[in-house]
Amino acid sequence: MCGVSMVDIRDKGGLEKVFASTRFDAVVHFAGLKAVGESVQKPLLYYDHNVAGTIILLEVMAAHGCKKLVFSSSAAVYGSPKNSPCTEEFPLTPHNPYGRTKLIAEEICRDIYHSDSEWSIILLRYFNPVGAHPSGYLGEDPCGIPNNLMPFVQQVAVGRRPSLTIFGNDYATKDGTGIRDYIHVVDLAEGHIAALRKLFERSIGCQAYNLGTGKGTSVLEIVNAFEKVSGKKIPLVIGPRRPGDAEILFSSAAKAEREFKWKAKYGIEEMCRDQWNWASKNPFGYASPDSTKQNGHSH
Ligand code: UFG
Repeated sequence: MCGVSMVDIRDKGGLEKVFASTRFDAVVHFAGLKAVGESVQKPLLYYDHNVAGTIILLEVMAAHGCKKLVFSSSAAVYGSPKNSPCTEEFPLTPHNPYGRTKLIAEEICRDIYHSDSEWSIILLRYFNPVGAHPSGYLGEDPCGIPNNLMPFVQQVAVGRRPSLTIFGNDYATKDGTGIRDYIHVVDLAEGHIAALRKLFERSIGCQAYNLGTGKGTSVLEIVNAFEKVSGKKIPLVIGPRRPGDAEILFSSAAKAEREFKWKAKYGIEEMCRDQWNWASKNPFGYASPDSTKQNGHSH
């Protein structure tokens, strides 16, 4: 059995040691920073972790003859497409440094495949991952004020924040609020296993796949579903639109469904149920309430 070790992907010496210790057949590369707002404030940090880190990982993989990769990309590479469902062929025009780091890493992967056809690479473009492991032991615990909808709703439900601000209710959607493609984290995880299997089936070059449900859900629909499963009222404040937000963005998941023989199983209610199960068991995430009070961070 292998032990668990941790190394920063930017630490080439450390990665070399890991690859020298075991022969890896494939790598699933999740390592990276993911807060859009922070990427605007600290672009170099994002390029360093997400781009430079990926280059170092690919160099070490190549040096050790490990040329199968599943990479965590993002729907952020599409920017704000004019229409949905969004297929993998849509133009790649990210709006922020985070999305650009993902696009650059994708381009690097496409280039290395063109230079050496022994590589087999799957780029997974995640839509909006939410929920938690159904056990209630594993969930997201963002630092500071959450940027994303679901962690924010969760913190309102457990009483850590007074209300949720809806970023605009004047969109041309069914109830005026923004529409996204939320996918349960367990479905997302299973998408990775399916992608990994695909890599071992045959050489597939370097290809991108959306991981989503193919369904659009509004902010208000999320709030309603969360209230229903938790029995908690989520007080709402209607605020202005958030700059850079798309009106409607949901995936076409057809390519992954067809080629991976995978399909997202969970609906919005199950996503909210598991999010609430995690939240109610761990209202302060992985930290104790006292440490949260002291530094305002949840871990
Ligand atoms: N929203 C609110 N209030 C909040 C937070 C979000 O109304 O406090 C709304 C947003 O305006 C949007 C929806 O809820 O309509 C979802 O917003 P998120 O911030 O949860 O997710 P985004 O779709 O903006 O961003 C997500 C990921 C990014 C990724 C992007 C790709 O968080 O990392 O999808 O499309 F880049």
